Amino acid sequence: MKIAGTGRAMPSLSVNNDMLSVILDTNDEWISTRTGIRERRILSKERLEDLAVSAARAALVSANVAASDIDYMICSNVINNFVTPSLSCIVQGEIEARCPCLDINAACSGFIYALDLADALLKTGRAHKILVLCAEQPSRMVNWKDRSTCVLFGDGAGAVVLTDESEDFKAFKISTVSKTDPLYYQRAMEYNPFVMLPDSDAPMIMNGKEVFKLAVSSCLSDIKQALSLAGKTVADINYYLLHQANLRIIQSIRELLEISEDKFPHNIERYGNISSASIPVLLDELHEAGTFKKGDTILMSAFGAGFTSGACIVEWSI
Ligand code: ACO
Repeated sequence: MKIAGTGRAMPSLSVNNDMLSVILDTNDEWISTRTGIRERRILSKERLEDLAVSAARAALVSANVAASDIDYMICSNVINNFVTPSLSCIVQGEIEARCPCLDINAACSGFIYALDLADALLKTGRAHKILVLCAEQPSRMVNWKDRSTCVLFGDGAGAVVLTDESEDFKAFKISTVSKTDPLYYQRAMEYNPFVMLPDSDAPMIMNGKEVFKLAVSSCLSDIKQALSLAGKTVADINYYLLHQANLRIIQSIRELLEISEDKFPHNIERYGNISSASIPVLLDELHEAGTFKKGDTILMSAFGAGFTSGACIVEWSI
């Protein structure tokens, strides 16, 4: 599998920490020192579907691949306007692709899970060109009165086009350990005359300290296992692209691996945590900036609710 092109689309509304301090008992100092986040994008006028379509189109242009040539689409998404049909079905029609479409929900690890599925489809010859799209709107789920969660998240979409033209992916390690209490969001139920409804819907519930510890330990374990599977050392990696959930999580992992800061690019300060879209958005920004050189080895690692996590190693070839 080869990454042939990348794309992203972000909402136009930028909400900085000072704007949050007007509606919540919080401040820029608390948010930026604890998380690294200074602003995030929030969907207001646009729809997530529009963002997803723009990111998909940008990746297709970047890869120089026509939508009609895509023979499978995987969309990673936790929540959007529709429970059904899936987001990928909606996007497929808008971009005029004709392939089978599938949504997956592996929370913030969704990009790595989607890449792993795509790799299997390409290796078995079931597909030759795959569009992986991560479109996320955590702003729909957070309780905007809860300062301990809503300040962390933002919306956005990132995409990649994958082809079977070369074998650039050197290792995958994905894992799930059922641990639902630290982070969950319960869907509200429609009125049903036979069921007693709860008094109110549960907003997103998160135990920040627990998630922090799980994130560091799972990420470290996945990184080490992926390196071992690829026969590489920590020093062989040119760039570590980690899920952008909290700069302190990224720094803790970096310090434990004893690697210099320049190998850990980040954009969390501008976007907050955009769930599974965080790595593909960062990937696209770095690709656009010309950061990667042909032959660079990139390790991507993510973690999320579930508790899911995953890492993979790719040699850059575009
Ligand atoms: N502004 C000001 N004060 C706040 C805020 C805020 N936005 N949020 C919480 N506080 C207060 C708390 O009420 C608490 O006050 P108290 O001491 O009077 O009780 C104090 O700050 C400290 O709170 P802690 O929860 O102890 O702060 P902590 O240092 O653990 O940082 C944080 C909290 C930033 C949430 C951290 O635990 C974290 O980042 N965890 C990981 C979260 C995460 O990554 N989630 C998503 C990952 S998975 C996925 O991406 C879906």
